[in-house]
Amino acid sequence: MDLMEFQAKTVFAKHGVRTTVGAVVTTPEEARAAAEKIGGRVVVKAQVKTGGRGKAGGVKLASSPDEAEEKAREILGLDIKGHVVKILNIVPAAAIAEEYYFSFLVDRANRNYLCIASAAGGMEIEEIAHTDPDAIAQISIDPAKGVDDALAREIAVAAKYPADVIDAVVPEIVKLYDVFIAEDASLVEVNPLVKLEDGNVEALDGKVTLDENADFRHPEHAEFEDVSAADPLEAAAKAKGLNYVKLDGSVGIIGNGAGLVMSTLDVVAYAGAEFGGQKPANFLDIGGGASAEVMANGLEIIISDPQVQSVFVNVFGGITACDAVANGIVQAFELLASRGEAVNKPLVVRLDGNNAEEGRRILDEAGLAGLERVDTMDGAAKRAAELAAK
Ligand SMILES: Nc1ncnc2c1ncn2[C@@H]1O[C@H](COP(=O)(O)OP(=O)(O)O)[C@@H](O)[C@H]1O
Ligand SMILES: [Mg+2]
Repeated sequence: MDLMEFQAKTVFAKHGVRTTVGAVVTTPEEARAAAEKIGGRVVVKAQVKTGGRGKAGGVKLASSPDEAEEKAREILGLDIKGHVVKILNIVPAAAIAEEYYFSFLVDRANRNYLCIASAAGGMEIEEIAHTDPDAIAQISIDPAKGVDDALAREIAVAAKYPADVIDAVVPEIVKLYDVFIAEDASLVEVNPLVKLEDGNVEALDGKVTLDENADFRHPEHAEFEDVSAADPLEAAAKAKGLNYVKLDGSVGIIGNGAGLVMSTLDVVAYAGAEFGGQKPANFLDIGGGASAEVMANGLEIIISDPQVQSVFVNVFGGITACDAVANGIVQAFELLASRGEAVNKPLVVRLDGNNAEEGRRILDEAGLAGLERVDTMDGAAKRAAELAAK
């Protein structure tokens, strides 16, 4: 999960990193009030989960509350790389002497942590990586040893931070490593890390990616979830523990196993071309143990998607055999009917693999309304696309 800048800075502050969280507002009037309260010059910053806000006009200096209101009005609603600005962070304008780059990240290729740091910070770090790679230091971090003052000093020197900021930057590096480890982050990036005119060092921007696999030990991270931005169907699916991604086609997809579901999306898109360009409406992997309840929850999410015109259930029986899946489908129909959400869209089911014959027999005997059985994946994809086009 990616955090917005103000959330990242909140996490930094929790670990003692020097930063200014400022005020979080959603209207121009609130921006004015925040600027009044802060006093002096402020910076109005778009809160969107993408970089390059400065260049896109999402970070603006304001010399007065009036101007803060005006800049807020300009920035709210701005589209920055496909992210519409709804939240602003109002912070005091910092007296910047120099801007540096700093980050910790997981280096999967080397099964290690990596620190990337450079005295050439600010908005152009990606460009510097191309034009002057020597200006960027990459230091691998042994997770078993971590980052102490001595290593932080080595990092600061390798990054070519000026000698007069090293003493101020060392404790910040150690605290940023605390953030990285204690919060189970896969990325902690500060660009710019600034030297202020008074010689202090401060994190002026923050980008943090939290590892969702560690959510179970961070109940406090739930507050960072941006429920308003998530698709409502995705949010409902997540609440039910389903592995669901909303797409924008008309054929609902349920399969067992991520690989099978991915290839199902492909065959449906391919078959759909023949029927006016029908496309998959979602990705949904119900996994290995497809119980009736999981099947019912999956069907419920898919049929509640108004874009869905037909549903393709593609199951390859493995450890959970086809007869168990077929019983799951039958019970799912009953369960949904009892919840008052009977399946009202045509369903095409393809069962293959372990105990396929028995599974098919169970479906045929159940005679569920609107359910058709097609025994090949291509044939079933074609039929589902055809039904969606009707
Ligand atoms: N509080 C601040 N005071 C003064 N200048 C700032 C402040 N915050 C950001 N800036 C300036 O705006 C630039 C871009 O802001 P930043 O937060 O890094 O956004 P982004 O990386 O998305 O462009 C910074 O490099 C810095 O020069
Ligand atoms: Mg930045």
